[in-house]
Amino acid sequence: MNVDAAGLEREIDELAAISSAPAPAVTRILFSDEDIEARAWLRAKFSAAGLSVREDAVGNLFARWPGSEPWLPAVATGSHTDAIPNAGKFDGVAGVLGALEAVRALQREGFRPRRSIEIIMFTAEEPTRFGLGCLGSRLLSGVLGAAEAADLRDAEGRSFDGLRTGAGCSGSLDSVRLSAGCYRAFLEMHIEQGPLLERAGIDIGAVEKIAAPAAFRVRIQGEGGHAGALLMPARRDASLAAAELALAVERAALESGSADTVGTTGVFRIEPDAINSVPARATLEIDLRDTNLATRDRAEATIRAAADSIAERRRVQIGIEVINSDAPANCDEELVSMICDSTAATGCSVFRMISRAYHDSLFMARVCPTAMLFIPCRNGWSHRPDEFASREAVAKGATVLADALRRLAA
Ligand code: GLV
Ligand code: MN
Ligand code: MN
Repeated sequence: MNVDAAGLEREIDELAAISSAPAPAVTRILFSDEDIEARAWLRAKFSAAGLSVREDAVGNLFARWPGSEPWLPAVATGSHTDAIPNAGKFDGVAGVLGALEAVRALQREGFRPRRSIEIIMFTAEEPTRFGLGCLGSRLLSGVLGAAEAADLRDAEGRSFDGLRTGAGCSGSLDSVRLSAGCYRAFLEMHIEQGPLLERAGIDIGAVEKIAAPAAFRVRIQGEGGHAGALLMPARRDASLAAAELALAVERAALESGSADTVGTTGVFRIEPDAINSVPARATLEIDLRDTNLATRDRAEATIRAAADSIAERRRVQIGIEVINSDAPANCDEELVSMICDSTAATGCSVFRMISRAYHDSLFMARVCPTAMLFIPCRNGWSHRPDEFASREAVAKGATVLADALRRLAA
């Protein structure tokens, strides 16, 4: 397979330059100027490859290479191009531009697909703007309803509906959901975001299962006051209650009995955020994941019990809102085997693994048979500016993806 490794690397660099953070960091928040510019850049790339582009009402992009039997369910592939603050240039992007290069490699070798091949760029895989990840694929799969989506507000109180129309997306939110049977398969290529492939010197991870993520927003109401005058026994410090809860999250994950439980308190805001004022309010956002739903649910119950006891002891109110609580997804065994066959056919090494990060595949797995292929990234680093996957690693991923797409579309 004739993948243009240098050209693919150049395109990844070009897209990375569309960022609201200075290089090497990449920041592209949903419906920011940079997100909109990146979408236009990508559409031009899709069109230059002769693909016809459709955009749905929330900005999911679909670039189609029509098959000779276009009425058959298409083979889909893709990922996302939004990036969290201070991210790197490969998360999501490798799977979108890798898919485009895979399609171009198939075109160059004269392949004529029987089924159409469609590259999808999903809107807002990252939860940055609305606190909820995988907005595009949640809507496509029907896990998120149109009315719930319309109600979403960002930190400035702006609605998802207003922002998407402001960004030029038209049509009703109801129209986004995909119909059953629309795709034969979905394959997502992604950097591993963990160290296992690199450590083992393996080219490709064939993902068998995607861990179950949950997210919670916690609001703590205490009582503020003067940092000099309010004596310690009288305090109801929201920040200290929040700190205790963050430690309880760590403990619940560590003591769950499974190494697969991970708990992170990644958002920690206190008000009024002044050195000489006792914190009156705190807002936390907690990310809790496991490959096993029952274990995750037990860890959640432990955290809730800790919150009750902290609230009582510190005389504060603690409210916990569930942002999302998703089940794990199993990848389709036939597709996982096919990825393994494609690695053998292209001279790459492979092992099977699980995805601890979530991906749009978590939701596409509810629409059609789905699988993922991972490529190694340096030290497993991701969600940071020094995230790095080598030119060769990305090219191998695109080569294996192309081989699998050919098998599925033939
Ligand atoms: C996706 O970016 C995740 O947080 O797993
Ligand atoms: Mn990410
Ligand atoms: Mn990603």
